[in-house]
Amino acid sequence: MAMRTTIDRLSQHVGQTVTLAGWLYNRRSSGKLLFLLLRDGTGICQCVLERTAANAAMFEAAEHLGQESSLEVDGVVRAEPRAEGGHELAATAVRVLHACQGYPITLKEHGVDFLFQHRHLWLRSKRQWAILRVRSTLVDAIRQFFNARGFVLIDTPILTPAAGEEAQTLFTVDYFGEPMYLAQTGQLYVEAACMAHRKVYCFGPTFRAEKSKTRRHLTEFWMVEPEIAFAELDDVIALAEEFVREIVQRVIAAHPAELQLLGRDLTVLSRLDQPFYRITYSEAAEILRSDHVRKMLEGDLERARAQIEELKTQIAEKERERTASGTKKWKAEKLVQEIAQAREELAEREEEVRNIPRHMELAANFQWGRDLGGSDETIIARLHDRPVFVTHYPRQVKAFYMKRNAADPRVVNNVDLLAPEGYGEIIGGSQREDDLDALLERIGEESLPQAAYEWYLDLRRYGTVPHGGFGLGVERTLAWLCGLKHVRETIPFARTLGRVYP
Ligand code: 4AD
Ligand code: MG
Repeated sequence: MAMRTTIDRLSQHVGQTVTLAGWLYNRRSSGKLLFLLLRDGTGICQCVLERTAANAAMFEAAEHLGQESSLEVDGVVRAEPRAEGGHELAATAVRVLHACQGYPITLKEHGVDFLFQHRHLWLRSKRQWAILRVRSTLVDAIRQFFNARGFVLIDTPILTPAAGEEAQTLFTVDYFGEPMYLAQTGQLYVEAACMAHRKVYCFGPTFRAEKSKTRRHLTEFWMVEPEIAFAELDDVIALAEEFVREIVQRVIAAHPAELQLLGRDLTVLSRLDQPFYRITYSEAAEILRSDHVRKMLEGDLERARAQIEELKTQIAEKERERTASGTKKWKAEKLVQEIAQAREELAEREEEVRNIPRHMELAANFQWGRDLGGSDETIIARLHDRPVFVTHYPRQVKAFYMKRNAADPRVVNNVDLLAPEGYGEIIGGSQREDDLDALLERIGEESLPQAAYEWYLDLRRYGTVPHGGFGLGVERTLAWLCGLKHVRETIPFARTLGRVYP
């Protein structure tokens, strides 16, 4: 056996004989030549096996291998600029480790439900492979950012006796006969640790019993939460801006190939060296009620309607062609797929036409005091070509722990960061209420069980200082970075209202 290597390292082995081990992504044969597209986890490489008198048996075995069969290939590395990855293997031997047939996910289009039902296999597909590589780097960049600045990592508990955010989204578990909750946030605990270490962060899975089926909601997601002492809202915002800029830049630098494979347009992402926008909640409310927004949404509606007509015509034409006598079988099969795709798009446009009028109404009648909803965030985020901080929300729509604004007691010193291009909130944060009496009042207002928060109140009894922090959701950030519509593909095994398998 020749020297074993991996596809990502082939450039170091041009002219040498190496062994690759992987899975069969695709193959085609021209009788004398067999092209095996090998996937080894680090990349994809075409291996070309020539039929000779000596290797006939090996050639025939390889010629019938099913997709995702596992195998080893020996061969000489050739530079081949036209090939995916820039190299090719002139194969001299193929050893089959496991020949399989009937792999469920073919290279054709599949419906989303089918793919999620086969998530354990779908992970091997190119796009999913690319997304999870980007995720791995994003997580690493997050850790590096805080570690390099002297933040102390604090692992906060998953089992918690009290709510950290809204009580309606708590998952209850049975803890030896007593109710406990899955952590919605590590924040209250990093606040405690912050008074011990000054700059801290936690990074782990968090849980929300979100009954909403939106493209932004998971019931289990990963959140990083820094917390800093002797800090006010502006310090929190400055940290968030530096943080987002750096992690985005790291991801772009590390993954040009993956982002290209995902079809990500990098113009907006590469403009982040300029300052992010800052508006207040009250300004956001004005924007939502503006004529400009109404016209934008009217335009959306018109466009979606026109696309629906266009898609319907296309589908009818393709149907006619598919059923016409004389249409070749391969052509008919291709048409079936195209029709299915057009139908999916049609369904999406039809949903838009159903939703846009509601979004228009919500925006036009936006009342001061209401929380920004998903569609409101989308609108604000579409109107900005860089991330936008929205600050100072009404107290009643925000969590009990947020610091009341001294100048305007109707609002709190909080901040949400909306990712541009319509993505919406990726960060939620605030200065914390550090005054014992004010915090007690809020706990009362929200009818929270004070006893469960005694330890948290102690932080205000013993050396209280201004402090604050934020939480960034990994999946929403990744959806934005990769240009994905939905967060469910950004986590290896998504947990949503409708899905917990596999
Ligand atoms: O705005 P949230 O609820 O803030 C907190 O949890 C604070 N305790 C954070 C802090 O100040 N330390 O959530 C923060 C972020 C959101 O901006 C979003 O990115 C993500 O967490 N997030 C979700 N991601 C996916 N699915 C959900 N259901 C999410 N809920 C929040
Ligand atoms: Mg939030």
